Amino acid sequence: MSTPSPTPTPAPACRHFGTCGGCQTLDQAYEAEVRDKEQSLRALFEGGGIASSTVRPLLSAQAPEGYRTTLKVPFAGYRGEPQAGFYRAGTHEIVNLEECAIQHPALVELLQIARELAAECRVSMYHEARQSGVLRALAARVGQGTGALLVGLVVRRADDRRVAQMAQKLYYGMRRRGLVGVVENHHDQASNAFFGKVTRVLHGEGRLPETFDGLQVQTSLTSFSQSNHTDAETVYRVARELLEPVANKTITELYSGWAPLGLRLAAAGAKLFCVEQSKIAVRDGQRNAKDNGLSDRISFCAMDAAHGLLQAPPSDAVIVDPPRKGLDEMVRIGLQRGPAPHLVYISCNPVTLLRDIEALADRYQLESIQPVDLFPRTPHVECVASLRWRNGS
Ligand SMILES: C[S@@+](CC[C@H](N)C(=O)[O-])C[C@H]1O[C@@H](n2cnc3c(N)ncnc32)[C@H](O)[C@@H]1O
Repeated sequence: MSTPSPTPTPAPACRHFGTCGGCQTLDQAYEAEVRDKEQSLRALFEGGGIASSTVRPLLSAQAPEGYRTTLKVPFAGYRGEPQAGFYRAGTHEIVNLEECAIQHPALVELLQIARELAAECRVSMYHEARQSGVLRALAARVGQGTGALLVGLVVRRADDRRVAQMAQKLYYGMRRRGLVGVVENHHDQASNAFFGKVTRVLHGEGRLPETFDGLQVQTSLTSFSQSNHTDAETVYRVARELLEPVANKTITELYSGWAPLGLRLAAAGAKLFCVEQSKIAVRDGQRNAKDNGLSDRISFCAMDAAHGLLQAPPSDAVIVDPPRKGLDEMVRIGLQRGPAPHLVYISCNPVTLLRDIEALADRYQLESIQPVDLFPRTPHVECVASLRWRNGS
């Protein structure tokens, strides 16, 4: 009997692969990546005592390349020329990005034009070690369902004449290609945080128009947004299916962002109490709720998740969607009191998900875990877990 030949390994479709830290598995066939991810997830969860039957097969990405609708890259000067791109893995050295297999092509083009304009306008580049220069970074997003573009220039100092010139040329040059606005974010701290606290509009709109499920929203560049719209839809669909029937349910959503999931659930008839620490995301969520006639179905609490949980109304379900570090200890303690019979946990880090499932095990029984490949060509995976009160809770 002949052995099946292994899946052929393609040549990586990007000249930066291997030096740039933006993606890690472009040299693998996508089917092999899915298989490897699924195997390592199963090994992790089984090692934590979770029955294999509880973990559903990984849902692969709909488009494993060109999917990233958010771009966030630092700028720096090299031999008098602006450079912009992801850091070389494990360093703060920029790989000057000329192409990218995972970014949306419109964002790669926008970056190239912005870099050329930075050179043409002789914008001074930020120097991290010396804390000098002006232009630190560029952030841009493509709007879901609209294809509109919004760009932000992160600067160490406001009111720089050359940045103003660059921004103007960028806006008027790209308007016909869907650029709706240029904003400037002020960041004068020596920290690794990408954005500073203050953002102002330089040209056009300050928020990106997006549309999904019959809803029309606008989102700020500094509010968290999923970077893979297409597969984020799968994550939200899985969460919603777990919560069915949704109509008339009272749901508390912690770490809600501007509530892309909460708005969908409110539109389906649920009543949402959303907790999010970013005031900008909360403002976006409130405006979007109002613009879509959902203000009476969704309310927001601009607070840390642990404090917000204390203010939550009695709920049929709690949704949590924390950052990679998982639930804060005080949130775990709050959830151990079992505020709702159903807990839907959306996680971008299976290691902290497993830790939190174990910490909540006295109160909640794990029902299922659905992995979704939200981050193809990287080692990361999103999971949606469903947990219910144990009998007698
Ligand atoms: C992974 S994002 C999820 C956002 C949203 N659910 C979505 O799908 O776009 C995590 C969110 O939690 C917020 N966050 C982080 N730490 C928090 C905390 N301690 N309390 C409340 N929100 C927090 C972040 O600002 C971010 O919006």
